[in-house]
Amino acid sequence: MSNAPVVPVDLARFTTDPYPALAAMRADAPIAFVPQLGATLLTRRTDVHREEKRIDVFSSLQPDGLMTRLMGENMMRKDGAPHQAERRALFPAVSPRTVAQHWKPLFQADCARILEDLKPRGACDLVRDYAMPVSAEALKRVTGLLTMTAAEMDGVSQAMIDGCANYSGDPDVTARCHAATARIDAHIDAGLARHATPEDMSALAVMRAAGLPQASLRANIKLIISGGQNEPRDAIAGTVWALLDHPAQLELIRTGHASWADAFAEYARWMSPIGMSPRRVARADRVAGIDFAPEDRVFLMFSAANRDPEWFDAPDSFQIRRNLQPAISFGAGPHFCAGAAVARSLIADVALPMLFARLPGLHLTGPVTLHGWAFRGPRAVPVAWAG
Ligand code: HEM
Repeated sequence: MSNAPVVPVDLARFTTDPYPALAAMRADAPIAFVPQLGATLLTRRTDVHREEKRIDVFSSLQPDGLMTRLMGENMMRKDGAPHQAERRALFPAVSPRTVAQHWKPLFQADCARILEDLKPRGACDLVRDYAMPVSAEALKRVTGLLTMTAAEMDGVSQAMIDGCANYSGDPDVTARCHAATARIDAHIDAGLARHATPEDMSALAVMRAAGLPQASLRANIKLIISGGQNEPRDAIAGTVWALLDHPAQLELIRTGHASWADAFAEYARWMSPIGMSPRRVARADRVAGIDFAPEDRVFLMFSAANRDPEWFDAPDSFQIRRNLQPAISFGAGPHFCAGAAVARSLIADVALPMLFARLPGLHLTGPVTLHGWAFRGPRAVPVAWAG
């Protein structure tokens, strides 16, 4: 085990709001062993940004890790050439060009349909009634799992995320995760049975065309679902909440002094939908005076790094015109989010502008609470608008 100072946390309070504990760690013990998590946390942006690239020490290979055991070995749990080969196979489905030319018009059509159904209602929970279906419809297209429903996509994604965070080994959580992966496999079978066409830019089609072995193809589809549903959902609803809760920031967009992309990027820095990425220590090493031993579990804390006062003025405040270049909301190394272009287009080019354009007088109708430390987002965002 590392010889990092031991810093206990109250897990319930940490899950409700991790930021006070992370700020204290970053100031007093930027590399700390947290017994309640069984891991050594890196919380300073400089350390996370540098160390994530040192894959010979901080490895993604975790053959006994929960994600590998529950979902199969995907690209996020590989290093080096095998990792890069799978990223290359997936790239045609998520490249900025495919997103702009192929996915964006489809995202806009789906979003217009969802807003058409929503508008007459006058009020809703943005997480459940807008952000969830917008994310799920987009993910059905990008994965190629067209036989799934939006609610099913959201359900299996949540079941896998719960399974991957199930360090206490709750058998019900594990069983739900297995049921979810079995359902995804059935939809993959349906997708693979479909006649392949050159126009099909989905992950399923391009990974098949690249000749990826079935086990890797299936594991990566599950990864895309577990990483591509909750995060955009929470970022869409979370950014809307943040703007409605900070009217002066929203006014900057209305007056052309800032963009929807700025608002999304600042929300993703401020609340980090993915707050942590795990690594396994592959060989003994010393970082900033701390000794790491092989097999140590390490958490790279993007959430803490994104609020590091060395890099961000008033880091706990929501300011959409701040310099966001140092933000690492999509990661900081070889595992940088493969879906970043999809997320930026779906959220900043489609979901945010279309919502505010279609629902005039949009306002909050109740309190909003955020939840989670590894994955963080609003539980519900109650809103209403002019009829
Ligand atoms: C707000 C939205 C999103 C956020 C904040 C986000 C964030 C992240 C982060 C932090 C990582 C891990 C980086 C690391 O360990 O260094 C990651 C990896 C990944 N994300 Fe995203 N993500 C988002 C949306 C998406 C979407 C929509 C997709 C798919 C269409 C996606 C697919 C992936 C994949 C495949 C990986 C693994 C890449 C690899 O291991 O090489 N993500 N994401």
